[in-house]
Formats: sequence, structure tokens, C-alpha cells
Amino acid sequence: MTRKFTLQLLFAVLLCGSGFGQDKSVNPDINKSFQQPDVKTFIERFESEGREVYDHREEIIEACQLKPGMAVADIGAGTGLFTRMIAPRVTDRGQVYAVDIAKQFVDHVEKTCKEEGIKNVTGVVCTADSAELPNNSVDLAFICDAYHHFEFPYKTMRSIYRALKPTGQIVLVDFERIEGQSSDWILNHLRAGKSTFVNEIELAGFEVAEERDFLATSYWIRFKKSDRKSDSNHTTDSIDDVKRLLANGTAQIIDVREKNEWDAGHLAAAELVPLSMLRGLSSDQLNAKLAEQLPKDKIIYCHCRSGGRVLAATPILQELGYDIRPLSIGYSDLVGQGFKKAD
Ligand SMILES: C[S@@+](CC[C@H](N)C(=O)[O-])C[C@H]1O[C@@H](n2cnc3c(N)ncnc32)[C@H](O)[C@@H]1O
Repeated sequence: MTRKFTLQLLFAVLLCGSGFGQDKSVNPDINKSFQQPDVKTFIERFESEGREVYDHREEIIEACQLKPGMAVADIGAGTGLFTRMIAPRVTDRGQVYAVDIAKQFVDHVEKTCKEEGIKNVTGVVCTADSAELPNNSVDLAFICDAYHHFEFPYKTMRSIYRALKPTGQIVLVDFERIEGQSSDWILNHLRAGKSTFVNEIELAGFEVAEERDFLATSYWIRFKKSDRKSDSNHTTDSIDDVKRLLANGTAQIIDVREKNEWDAGHLAAAELVPLSMLRGLSSDQLNAKLAEQLPKDKIIYCHCRSGGRVLAATPILQELGYDIRPLSIGYSDLVGQGFKKAD
């Protein structure tokens, strides 16, 4: 085991409570009851008076402002309560994807839709780290009472990001979780509250577009896509976020300076990807060369000496499918901010 890897592992272990980790589930037990769900039991639980999102289901869907022709993905569709409400509103010109990790739920949603003559619903059995939807196909991803069940939130949210059209949006409904205020069940069941989830979703490439407050124990938030860039085209992610996401394995950092600069000093956590190489190779050559070095399911932070070359590297890596985020500060400033130098 290399020293760099040992350090990264140590950081990841220290910070695993912060959520949003990617290499392992942020909440391994949260979906136990959905492994072989007894659908009848969950219909009683999800589709009964007294559940706030059931009692306010009309307002929740009304606020989504659905239009005929829209493609909507109900992510974590469960027993299909919202899928069946969304389907007639987007009409037969539109499309609803009922997406869930539990095949029993997806089968049930397809069956009930068929029985009710609803023809525009497609079931999708997804994986714990991907919604498994076609790229650029969805206008709205509706996520009710499901985000806190995502075990790999960054990967799932990036898969949703890719599935959404450029103007695509997310509606998130989830429980408020407030220490000293929320019930013990909520405090134990949810790993975090609204501000953490909003921050995670923003970091996956979105910004808050609208918030409604008609629910007492839950929140309703609409997000739109955001390129998370400043006027200078550098990432708006804070240095604290960068450190946290590197430590928990959600992100990786690359140095696009040249080999002689790297040899004179570099960050312990960085990988060398010189700009001259990015410029000198074809896309196919780069894909082959970077396949081992850079994963496409992580945020890739990018630094150089003073924030200039990262801007040239960004479109090249973006073109290859990376979620690349150029840092405005360079090597020395990063060291000044506490990033460890390689020995
Ligand atoms: C509490 S239920 C909510 C069901 C429905 N949205 C509702 O409000 O009635 C959460 C659902 O999310 C699903 N789920 C958990 N992790 C998921 C993931 N990574 N992607 C998609 N669905 C997931 C579960 O199987 C479960 O059906």
C-alpha cells in the first residue's frame, strides 16, 4: 500500500460520518427493508392518511407545474403513488420513468398503471449508484422521500444530471431534520438535514431555483442545473468542500503543470496530467491513457501554478466526459491552505 493511498484511506475513515462518501455507502442499512419488499405492507405505509406527503400529494404535484409532453423521472418511485399522479398530467405525449432499486416496486407500478389504462409509464430497475436513465432525456427528476435513501448520493445525482436535458430540473421533497425539534425516528432515520442535502446536490452540479413551504415536517425544493463557475470560469466550490470531497473519495485532484514543475514540488494527493499531454493527444489516445488514472464517476479538481492553465485543460477533459472543476488558486496557495505537499 503506498503512503499516498494510506493517507487517503485514513482521511476517508476519519471523515466517513460526513456523508456524501462515494467509495462506500453513506448509510449501508438504510435500504434493508427494500431488499425484498412486501409491496402490500408498503402500500399501507406510503399511501395512507397521516403521511404528510400523502396528505399533501396534490399540492406537491401541483407545485411541480407539469406540462403535457414533459418527460418526468420519479426517482425512488416506491409503490408508484406519485408516478400515477404525474402520468395523466404529462399526457400521452409525455413520459414517466418509475425508477427504483426494488424490482418488486417497479413491477407493481407497471402492473397498476396497466390496470388503470396508463400507457406512458416505463419502469426502470436502477442500481444503488445510478438512476440508469438515457442521457439528455428528462425534463424533471422528482425525488420524494428518497434522497435520504441514496447510498451513493454523488454518483446517483451525477447520473440524474446526465439524464436531465440542459433545462432539466429536480424537485426534492424530504424530511426536515432538526436536532431538538424533529422526532427521534427522523433523527435516527436520516443521516443529515436539509442544508447538507442541498449542499450535496449543489456540488453535484445544481442550484436552488425555488422553495415552497406548504409542508410542516418536510421541505419542497426545485433545483436547476448550474455550471458552478465564477466570472473567471473557475469553480465556485469552496476550499473546505474540495478538502472534504477529496478526503471522502468523492473527488480527485490533478495537477496540469509540466513534469519539471511537478518534480520541484507537488501535492501529495494530486495526479500529474500535464497540459502539454492533454493538448498533444487525440481524444481516443487521452481516453486510453487516462482510463486508469482518472475515474469518470468522481469530481476532478484541477490546479496549476496560478489558475491559468486549468482553464485550457477544462474543456479538453469535459469533452472526454469528466466532471472537471478548475481551481483559481495554484500550487503554493493550496499548500498555504493546508493541502499536504508530497515528500
Ligand atoms: C421512502 S420510499 C419513497 C417512495 C415514494 N417516492 C413515495 O414518496 O411514496 C424510498 C424509495 O427509494 C428507493 N431507493 C432507495 N435508494 C434508491 C436509489 N439509489 N435509486 C432509486 N431509488 C432508490 C427505495 O427502494 C424506496 O422505494
